[in-house]
Amino acid sequence: MRAFSSLLLLAILPTSLAVKSQDFKTCSQAGFCRRGRALSARAQESQSWRSPYSVDPSSIAVSPEQASFVAAVKSSLYPDVKFSLDVRVHDDGVVRVRMDEVDGLRKRYDEAASWALIAEPTISPDVKWAVGKKELRATYGPKKDIEVVVSYDPLTVTLYRGGKPQVVLNGRGLLHMEHFRTKAASEEKAPVEAPAEDSQVVMQVNNRAWFEGEEEDGFWEEKFGSWTDSKPKGPESLFIDITFPKHGHVYGIPQHATNLDLPTTTGDDAHFSDPYRLFNADVFEYNADSPMSLYGSIPFMHAHSTESTVAIFNAVASESWIDIGHSSATSTETHWMSESGILDVFIMPGPTPTDVFAQYSRLTGAPALPAHWALAYHQCRWNYISSDDVREVQKRFDEEDMPVDVFWLDIEYAEEHKYFIWDKKTFPDPVDMSHDVEAIGRKMVVIIDPHLKRTEDYPVYKEAKDLDVLVKTPGGENNYEGWCWSGSSAWIDFFNPGSWDWWTSLFKTEPGETWSWTESTVDTYIWNDMNEPSIFNGPEISMPRDNIHHGGWEHRDVHNINGMLLHNLTAQAVMMRTDPPRRPFVLTRSFYAGSQRFGAMWTGDNLGTWEHMTAGVKMVLANNVGGFSFAGSDVGGFFGNPEPEMLVRWYGVGIFSPFFRAHAHIDTKRREPYLLDEPYKSILRSFLRLRYSLLPVWYTAFRETSVTGLPVLRPHWVMFPKDEGGFSLDDQYFVGSSGLLVKPITQKGVTETSVYLPEDQVYYDYFTYEAYRGAPKGKSVTVPAALDKVPFLIRGGSIVPTRERPRRSSVLMKHDPFTLRVALDTKGTAKGELYLDDGETFSHRDGKFIWREFVAGKQNKGLLIRSTDLAAQKPGEAVNGVALPTYNGANEFANDMATVRVERVVVFGLSAKPKSVQGGGKELHWEYTPGVASNTKKQGTASVLVIKDPGVGVSSDWEIVVQV
Ligand SMILES: *[C@@H]1O[C@H](CO)[C@@H](O)[C@H](O)[C@H]1NC(C)=O
Repeated sequence: MRAFSSLLLLAILPTSLAVKSQDFKTCSQAGFCRRGRALSARAQESQSWRSPYSVDPSSIAVSPEQASFVAAVKSSLYPDVKFSLDVRVHDDGVVRVRMDEVDGLRKRYDEAASWALIAEPTISPDVKWAVGKKELRATYGPKKDIEVVVSYDPLTVTLYRGGKPQVVLNGRGLLHMEHFRTKAASEEKAPVEAPAEDSQVVMQVNNRAWFEGEEEDGFWEEKFGSWTDSKPKGPESLFIDITFPKHGHVYGIPQHATNLDLPTTTGDDAHFSDPYRLFNADVFEYNADSPMSLYGSIPFMHAHSTESTVAIFNAVASESWIDIGHSSATSTETHWMSESGILDVFIMPGPTPTDVFAQYSRLTGAPALPAHWALAYHQCRWNYISSDDVREVQKRFDEEDMPVDVFWLDIEYAEEHKYFIWDKKTFPDPVDMSHDVEAIGRKMVVIIDPHLKRTEDYPVYKEAKDLDVLVKTPGGENNYEGWCWSGSSAWIDFFNPGSWDWWTSLFKTEPGETWSWTESTVDTYIWNDMNEPSIFNGPEISMPRDNIHHGGWEHRDVHNINGMLLHNLTAQAVMMRTDPPRRPFVLTRSFYAGSQRFGAMWTGDNLGTWEHMTAGVKMVLANNVGGFSFAGSDVGGFFGNPEPEMLVRWYGVGIFSPFFRAHAHIDTKRREPYLLDEPYKSILRSFLRLRYSLLPVWYTAFRETSVTGLPVLRPHWVMFPKDEGGFSLDDQYFVGSSGLLVKPITQKGVTETSVYLPEDQVYYDYFTYEAYRGAPKGKSVTVPAALDKVPFLIRGGSIVPTRERPRRSSVLMKHDPFTLRVALDTKGTAKGELYLDDGETFSHRDGKFIWREFVAGKQNKGLLIRSTDLAAQKPGEAVNGVALPTYNGANEFANDMATVRVERVVVFGLSAKPKSVQGGGKELHWEYTPGVASNTKKQGTASVLVIKDPGVGVSSDWEIVVQV
């Protein structure tokens, strides 16, 4: 009861909830992680280590379509235990390797992939396994240079390209699937002998000590703090080593606060002593450099070198730890340790980052195309305390001419934290308030968490209980009760299909048969927090692992997927409120592979420190390469009161994040951008306007990611995979394919910074037209970075469309004219694209959009700038791979855009003053300011040609001819 009452106090005084790292396990406190690392240590010490797992060649059954096979696997440790192996090659060359225990005492959890994948992948029609004496081989690929080899004894799976191994499973012999056993049988085992150094013999006998260790470490029960995990199923962990020969860098496996180029956890110079942990957890005041787990988990890892990129997706839903080391300077060894589940590894053969992103998004889905307004500025705080508070904040933004699109409400809107139920003392008129916000196209976002206050007068709890869709305690009889914001709470089990229709019906704004949210509007969108799940009095602030979900699965089996289901169902619910449906917006804190299909994420409760600002940039990049681009960190830092300089820099980070939201803890001082003194206030206004002016760039980048899976934020190794100098960069990045290169400043007192230019190309300062040269290849240049500037360059060769009329919300910009910045490369050419649609429905899937390409090229001695229809050139690639037979340039949306003009074309780096500039056969208005030409090696201000009102539309074909 003591713990209980102090937790009660914590719930009342949330600021004191600051959690120390001792609230979370280290590897040495997790039985299976200890076992996994001990196994690896034994392997390292032994000269003659050999995996006990082998394929029984007589059991191999190649499927009729030839690209997959199954085979029996056994371990010499436990000859009576049966495993099955299933290896298949997909039509895009991805290899899936599955292994499970067969006819065991119980069944291992095998559904992780089914939640993560968009569909069952298609098996290649062209691949044939050749069954040999020692191995199976399959050769494929457009150049027939990819080969997968499955060796029988010991069992290994190797992906070769060009005759060289790229990915090796079990090459170090650490594969181990702990079979189900009974406690009694386990205790009967023969006494263990110490392993003899060179002995195959010892390895063959039925003596598990050399492999599994001498003790049953944490097999049957585990304690952590005051919690006991009853572990009724006993040991069932899964270990697999995955080596990437000749790939010196690995990226991905979000979410961790550390470098993008993942530092090592093993070896003499290991950066971290613990492995990277994937176990979704609510870690308050997390460390800014740590392998500790955070709110989400994506077990997707890229391995990269100048020659090749490959990747793996390890579809496991239980807690996992990953060791990373280098066997040599240029090869990476990883070791994956998971608490439960089958082996289900997808090997992506690359060979480029672009290929890997395509391969991964074919598996788990490309990110959803967000609503256009969702890319604008979001204003949040814990809490806007009343309807009038919301109205007042909106009024102040308008008075100060600061654009904002979305106002957010944290948990205090809800009476006693009963989500959906307004606290009428402070929000007496929620629908009127929402309509006030929505008047100029703005939106509301309101929080809905997955814990339900256990009181009968809360209809949502009552209905969930009556439907019997709550998570159960061990044994599966009773509903689990834990402590969260709403006090004593129950948790909806979204693994239970019985909860799905019910959950989506709650969000209907019309009355229905069951309770529905009639005190809401269809412009109110949702924020899902605490969905790891976070439970104040649970082990590691989460749910007991022996709790029971639908189908009898333990919480440990499904933990990392738990948060994604709420996100998925809530996004569906929001979409289903209107007919025709509108694109949903749902922010989630917890996530898994596949969450990119459902909305946005943020990096949780960061601190208002420079370290956290820096870490946030890396974490958002890691999320982008983890396939989940719609990411951001709380601008300003969740905890603390940032000084004005820090707040300004934080907005500099935010305007260049895919998801841009300011948020603050309940105990912080108000810090809405209009509250700052000058000059800070004006700087923030200009930053917000910069974000709004670049919305066409962001939206176009999101269209691309929604089709190709290529991230919205692109670190250097993705853009320039052969330039080793950029492989570890994680403080500067490109925005989509736009050619915009950003380096947000995340340190105090900075006036200039160095920016790495990867190539022999000209880069122009977006604001001053200063031209920098990365010659001959890979060079750092010094760029001004005073407080009112975010270092921001346009790569020569890019055309960037913007909208520069200051407006109060993005919806008001719908018919605003465009500016095109044409940044000529060293050859005097440039190109860029623009995608636009109605920004909120799915009518783009019926071909209602415009997709333009702008190209500038040499003509005689001058320049020809053209606008052409890209959609007509690339039918079927438009959005989400949906073929678009109905697309035509005169579609409804294009008609709506017909009068939208290009009001200005700005050309950087023209080599000489034009003699004339013509469009539609007429001389246009233009101004030319000479500078240092782009194709010289000199640094200096580039020449600028400004063409005013060239009389061309944004959605039509046109040409502008510049004669020099
Ligand atoms: C989640 O989303 C996908 C669409 O991406 C859908 O097919 C699936 O049924 C959804 N539901 C659950 C419970 O995961």
